[in-house]
Amino acid sequence: MDRPAAPPPSPGGFPAGFFDRYDDEPDGTFYEPLRLVTHIDDGAIAAVGQLYTELGLTGAVLDLMSSWVSHFEQPPEALTVLGLNADELARNPDATAVVVHDLNAEPHLPFGDATFDAATCCVSVDYLVRPVEVFADVARVLRPGGLFVCTFSNRCFPTKAVRGWLANDDRGRLAIVDAYFEQSGGFDRAVLAHRNPGARGDPLYAAWAARRAG
Ligand SMILES: C[S@@+](CC[C@H](N)C(=O)[O-])C[C@H]1O[C@@H](n2cnc3c(N)ncnc32)[C@H](O)[C@@H]1O
Repeated sequence: MDRPAAPPPSPGGFPAGFFDRYDDEPDGTFYEPLRLVTHIDDGAIAAVGQLYTELGLTGAVLDLMSSWVSHFEQPPEALTVLGLNADELARNPDATAVVVHDLNAEPHLPFGDATFDAATCCVSVDYLVRPVEVFADVARVLRPGGLFVCTFSNRCFPTKAVRGWLANDDRGRLAIVDAYFEQSGGFDRAVLAHRNPGARGDPLYAAWAARRAG
C-alpha cells in the first residue's frame, strides 16, 4: 500500500494534546468489568489470523493489550498475553503465560532483552498515551529481526482512545502507527496495509516492522 500522503504527526513529534483522552481515569478502572466479547467482526478477525500465519509468527510471542482471544490460526509455541483484566487473560486458550500490566502507567515491559520472537497488538494501539516509549521497549524485548504486528479497525472505545487517533481517518491512523515505529528508533521501516479491501464489515488495517538488527 502507498504511504499516506499527509501524515498527521509533525516531524519529530506530535501536536499538543494529541495524547489527551476524554476519560483520563486509570485504565484499570475502565477495563475492570469482564468483557468476553470480540471487538471486530468475524471477517476482520480472520484477516488478523491470516496475517499472523502469513508472517510466520511462531516461537515465543508476546500479545500486548490482550484479552481472552489472540486470533492466531495456529497458536505459537509460547504465547505471553499482557493486558489489564486478569479474568479475561486467564480465559485465553492460547496463552502460556499471563501478565497484568498497565502500559500507560509504565511503558517499560517486565521482560528481559530479546525474550520474544514476535509481538502483536490487536485493536488497541489507539489507547496508548506513551506509544513511542512502548514501541521502543517492544524492540528491546524482541530478538533482532522479530516482527511487531499492530492491527486495527475503525472501531474503538472513544473515551479511552487518544485525541489524535479520533481526529484522523484510517489512512491517517496508518501514518500514526508508522510514526510510532519510526520514532521509537528500534525498527526497520514499517509495512502498512489494508488487509481486507472490499470487505462489507469491519476494515482491518495492519502496520508491522522488524526489530532492527544490532
Ligand atoms: C479493544 S480491547 C482488545 C483486546 C484484544 N487485543 C482483542 O483483539 O480482542 C483493548 C484491550 O487493551 C487492554 N488495555 C487497555 N489499556 C491498557 C493499558 N493501559 N495497558 C495494558 N493493556 C491495556 C485492555 O485490557 C483490553 O483487553
